[in-house]
Amino acid sequence: MKITIRLIVSLVFVIALVAIVFSYNQVSNEEKRLIAELERRAIILAESLQESVKPLIESNSFSKLNRLVERFGNRERLKGVAVFDNHGSILSSTPDLAPKISQPFPQAVISITENRQISSFKNLSGSKIYLYTMPLHQDDKAIGSLAIFHDASYIDVRLKGIWKQNLFRFLALSILVVIITLLVVRWSITGPIAQFAEWMRELRMGKDRVNEPATPKRGDVLSPLISEVTHLAKSLAIARARAEEEARLRVQAESLWTANRLKEHMRVELGGKKLYLISNREPYMHVKDGRNIKCIVPAGGLVTALDPVMRICDGVWIAHGGGEADRVVVDGNDKLRVPPEEPAYTLKRIWLTKEEENGYYYGFSNEGLWPLCHITHTRPVFRLDDWVYYQKVNEKFAEILLKEIGGEESPLVLIQDYHLALLPLLIKEKRPDAKVAIFWHIPWPNPEAFGICPWQQEILIGMLGADIIGFHTQFHCNNFLDTVDRFLESKIDWEQFSVTRGGNTTMIKTFPISVSFDSALDRVSATQEKTLLRETILKEIGVHPKYLGVGVDRIDYTKGIPERFRAIERFLEKYPEYIGEFTFVELGAPSRIHIKRYRDLLAEVEEMADKINWRFQTKGWKPIVFLKRHHSHEEIDRFYKIADLCMVTSLHDGMNLVAKEFVACRADEDGVLVLSQFTGASRELKDAIIVNPYDIEGMADDIYFALTMEMIERSERMRRMRTVVKEHNIYGWAGNLITTLLRLRVPATSESNKE
Ligand code: G6P
Repeated sequence: MKITIRLIVSLVFVIALVAIVFSYNQVSNEEKRLIAELERRAIILAESLQESVKPLIESNSFSKLNRLVERFGNRERLKGVAVFDNHGSILSSTPDLAPKISQPFPQAVISITENRQISSFKNLSGSKIYLYTMPLHQDDKAIGSLAIFHDASYIDVRLKGIWKQNLFRFLALSILVVIITLLVVRWSITGPIAQFAEWMRELRMGKDRVNEPATPKRGDVLSPLISEVTHLAKSLAIARARAEEEARLRVQAESLWTANRLKEHMRVELGGKKLYLISNREPYMHVKDGRNIKCIVPAGGLVTALDPVMRICDGVWIAHGGGEADRVVVDGNDKLRVPPEEPAYTLKRIWLTKEEENGYYYGFSNEGLWPLCHITHTRPVFRLDDWVYYQKVNEKFAEILLKEIGGEESPLVLIQDYHLALLPLLIKEKRPDAKVAIFWHIPWPNPEAFGICPWQQEILIGMLGADIIGFHTQFHCNNFLDTVDRFLESKIDWEQFSVTRGGNTTMIKTFPISVSFDSALDRVSATQEKTLLRETILKEIGVHPKYLGVGVDRIDYTKGIPERFRAIERFLEKYPEYIGEFTFVELGAPSRIHIKRYRDLLAEVEEMADKINWRFQTKGWKPIVFLKRHHSHEEIDRFYKIADLCMVTSLHDGMNLVAKEFVACRADEDGVLVLSQFTGASRELKDAIIVNPYDIEGMADDIYFALTMEMIERSERMRRMRTVVKEHNIYGWAGNLITTLLRLRVPATSESNKE
């Protein structure tokens, strides 16, 4: 209320000030105008009268003079006229005037003696008079003077009128301002604040766990605050839910890995040490968006999995700065804190030249190692130039990492993926005290397939510099050991799954990667109204089918996207009752498009979607909606939440986190997962409908099976899959990997390395 009063008082004060200045100005202008008009009239009258008066004075015709004066004296607003002789005594005047004026009349005397017209205001018997006197001459000789007495009281009346009128205006304006101020303040400030306070109270109390309180309707003025508080409230709700979850787990004596448990575990295990994670792909990429810079999270399982871990463990993530605006946002050491909205760890960017990127990333990593490790019948290409760049860039990463860990004793280094196979040895050679693990996110082929690589030994030796080499599945570990056995002189322990070479022992172990299943977070996000969300999304994509399928991929030939589309086409052929009823949304992020195979695939997938749509589409419906762009996790989650089925049809995949993300997202315990048997995830998610992506006929039937599955079976399958993902989440992955690495005995000097 205080602010309202202050606002009103200030406004009224300003209005009053303006009204006073304005009225004063108006009054003085009006006064000047009225006086000037009075003077003009007096002069005209005097001048027209003097010509008739002068001969009558000369001829002493006083009775005529009296008649003339009387006739003139009757004019409107004229109080009277008087004619004086040379001494200021009255010769003639209008009858009422004579008794009221003194003789000799001073102003008449002055006018005659000084020979000039004089005008003044006088008080004549209580009323205000404008008096104008002029000397009369005949043949240059003064013969008297003429006085015009004008009523001037109307000037004051008029001026008072103006003040009064303006006072009323001011009052009316003030009342209006008070009313409008009260309404505006109530509508846009105090009202929303009251709603906002109530909303915050509800959030704080967490009264309604199912529905988040609706944000204040009239909260536009508070919207920045609302968005901050929403975040705060979400964090609070998550923290509260986590605390409850922890308490529940304690009661049940369960040992589930949670974000909090990992945090505590790392605090104890790391004892203040930092974690160094190093990968080619960075977790946050800055790109240009018109004139602005926006931050995106690149598509791909590696980032999805590891960002939550780094958020908890802090530390430094070193990666290639591949975003076009990446250089703009880093500090002098090429670092920045991420995630931008809630900084939790440091990202250090490494810059590569175009040639380095072409040779190391596009060439050796993605045209060589990637197809080498995936059985998809895409031939790997190995070029000497690419290999040279691959070595050079690995050395560059090593140099920067070594600088970073310079001051740290026994630093903990987690190297990621096939781009950096040479890094473990490069690090260990310089820092034997470092504890180094390399995690291979993609499959490892059998020795025959790996033998294609001309630099097979260098790669194996580089990797074996690590203390631990991690894969998703035991099958990949076995393939790796077979490969080492085939190409290197070493001692393999098939019981312990380790390789000893040149005095170094490397553990080969499975660490099936996962997602940050957070049941607390989930309960919070489950508050989204599913039906409403579905309607909104269908409106956005412009189709309204009864059943919705979703696929989320980087457009990569390992993902089996053409096979998936073919299966959808076959499904509609076999089960035509689903024409108009089932739509599949593909959220496809273009990837590695400087490689021809990827460009061709993108064109092929688009063409297929067009062809299938053209064949089956009806008015207002089409079977495939291909959304070809990068989507944020939030955007993808919306689709996961409403889809009747999710299709993961990789021809070969190390793990595939889309499958696990879909499951983690389905707090409603609904939705069917169609999952390729060639993914690592299919070893864990046995309740998915497991398909062979090469078997189009089988996949078409499996789509039908998924769509006709009884609700109860759907829920049971989803519930079981959720238990798997919950119990084997990314915190468990990180906890196990880091603990295993920390507890390894690593020789402290490079001398002890030598046999
Ligand atoms: C796979 C690889 C990751 C890679 C991701 C995205 O998941 O294992 O190392 O980051 O694909 O590919 P990109 O080439 O865009 O990094």
